[in-house]
Amino acid sequence: MLSMSIPLAERLRPRTLDEYIGQAHLVGQNGVFRKFLETGNVPSFILWGPPGVGKTTLARIVATQLERPFFTLSAVTSGVKDVREVIESARKQRFFDQKAPLLFIDEIHRLSPIVEEYLYSAMEDYKIDIVLDKGPSARSIQIELAPFTLIGATTRSGLLTSPLRARFGIQCHLEYYDAPVLAGIVRRSARILDVSIDDDAAHEVALRSRGTPRIANALLRRVRDFAMVK
Ligand code: ADE
Repeated sequence: MLSMSIPLAERLRPRTLDEYIGQAHLVGQNGVFRKFLETGNVPSFILWGPPGVGKTTLARIVATQLERPFFTLSAVTSGVKDVREVIESARKQRFFDQKAPLLFIDEIHRLSPIVEEYLYSAMEDYKIDIVLDKGPSARSIQIELAPFTLIGATTRSGLLTSPLRARFGIQCHLEYYDAPVLAGIVRRSARILDVSIDDDAAHEVALRSRGTPRIANALLRRVRDFAMVK
């Protein structure tokens, strides 16, 4: 059972593809996400689409359902050191449970060129160069990494450099949600929050959510709070 201490947004997040509503071109019967789960074979891929449409959620579902360790980084705040630390943790994790980890990099179009270069060698032959010491005694050693899958999320696919884009097998585009689909998400969230909502009301919330589940869920919570107080 999910406890009340888990943040609300977390409780509303679908955990399996079957719970996920919308984006049928990706999660429907012939969708690429179904293939990932059926085969267990997940190449590095890009998820692109506007904020709040479920990029992180989908990446987490793949990790959860394939029981693969999940690590996240934001390209906005991460330098080479952070990426190296995460890749190192992933390596240790793999050593313990033999499952190739998923590395999720948010806003991947904002990676610094140095980190981008660093990732190329990590992705290509699972090797990275690290520099030990400084000054005249500085030397570079190469360490072997365990295989991992990189998932890059971006709101601005056009800003990806072409070498980076070329290194990902697939680009998955998440679209804004239609009102009937969003209304389905609102009804599901209401069930989880244990509040009742008419179909008409769910539709009204959906119409004001700008095609985005994150906004729909935030509105639903506000409507619920308002209804409870009044
Ligand atoms: N909550 C947020 N996004 C969702 C989605 N796509 N499906 C179901 N519940 C959600």
